[in-house]
Amino acid sequence: MKYNEIDFDTYFKNYPNADGFFGKYGGSYIPPELQAAMKEITDAYFTICKSSKFISELRKIRREFQGRPTPISYLERLSNRIGTGVQLYVKREDLNHTGAHKLNHCMGEALLAKYMGKRKVIAETGAGQHGVALATAAAYFGLECDIYMGSVDIKKQAPNVARMKILGANVIEVTEGLATLKEAVDAAFLAYSKEYKDAIYCIGSVVGPHPFPMMVRDFQSVVGIEAREQFLDMTGELPDAVVACVGGGSNAMGMFAGFLNDPVDIYGVEPLGRGPAMGDHAASLQYGEEGIMHGFNSIMLKDENGEPAPVYSVASGLDYPSSGPEHAFLHDLGRVKYDVIGDEETIDAFYTLSRLEGIIPAIESAHAVAYGIKLAKTMGKGSVLINLSGRGDKDMDYVIETYGIR
Ligand SMILES: Cc1ncc(COP(=O)(O)O)c(C=O)c1O
Repeated sequence: MKYNEIDFDTYFKNYPNADGFFGKYGGSYIPPELQAAMKEITDAYFTICKSSKFISELRKIRREFQGRPTPISYLERLSNRIGTGVQLYVKREDLNHTGAHKLNHCMGEALLAKYMGKRKVIAETGAGQHGVALATAAAYFGLECDIYMGSVDIKKQAPNVARMKILGANVIEVTEGLATLKEAVDAAFLAYSKEYKDAIYCIGSVVGPHPFPMMVRDFQSVVGIEAREQFLDMTGELPDAVVACVGGGSNAMGMFAGFLNDPVDIYGVEPLGRGPAMGDHAASLQYGEEGIMHGFNSIMLKDENGEPAPVYSVASGLDYPSSGPEHAFLHDLGRVKYDVIGDEETIDAFYTLSRLEGIIPAIESAHAVAYGIKLAKTMGKGSVLINLSGRGDKDMDYVIETYGIR
């Protein structure tokens, strides 16, 4: 299937299809005991979340609690420093309450839990941003909250662990395997399979079985919809390029959703970590192959036994051995170009944005900033809009300890 054969006017009606497929990617590969639970969530999504009552309640929450719309900032000093005439802009999801885009889908998922009469929300977290966002949503709606987190990430993201605890969530340490994001997802899924009658699983990205990739994308699309309108208001034009980092891919899908049907180049940035050798990165779309993991079919990094490979990135929120099925689909179509940025360039961008613009980015978001800078150097003119998915407070201790002050 070629990109030009897809009608992006009707794209969101057709993708995913009723079984949750984006082309051959997606679907729902889950044990029989979870099938009824997933169907319940899917049905609830199509009835409750599409109701005017739900939509107006979510809009009110976004406006009055989250602080939406988040602004777009023009990066004047950075654009001047690059000096090619290309103008750089950032969509400020770091200014969304709790400091990242994750709250966009968490408030939606937790509001759905409330409407469904569930008393508990369960999730995994990598960088802790999804955990903090869900703990916040749970506190807001009066729900119990269990967050599964690998012990490596618990150590690396200590401020977010404290935030989750202050917000009343139970942070459950996962020590299996590499003790990072993948193992946290495994543990959270296992817990959910035992508690699905009372609880709803609130996945942290556009991954997992149907309906999660669709549901999380739709809740996150507020980012792209807002950004498109704001950018037109600010400049009278669309950006020439849009850039976002891709872990599971929720901030990217949210941003891309606003621009898929426009003549805009779209770039997804994966973490190259220490380099292209297996185990040193988490660039699944770049180096992976088709496979099923965590209940969905996508492109993933596999070891010699066909199991999810060990992955690494300086960014805890990006070290996942697969990406959402819709990214795999857009990758195959050629509608989005997926590329990579390594740790070193990321840390440079972390300091560059901090020093030149007064914005400390999350290390995840710094991947997108680094790529935006690289892209701007190759373009003769035009504009690049980068999704600044989160703020870097959670990363400051780690960056200083590991890389020192630059
Ligand atoms: C600030 C920030 N950006 C990006 C990500 C990556 O997630 P996703 O690819 O789902 O946007 C994370 C994950 O924790 C994050 O905290």
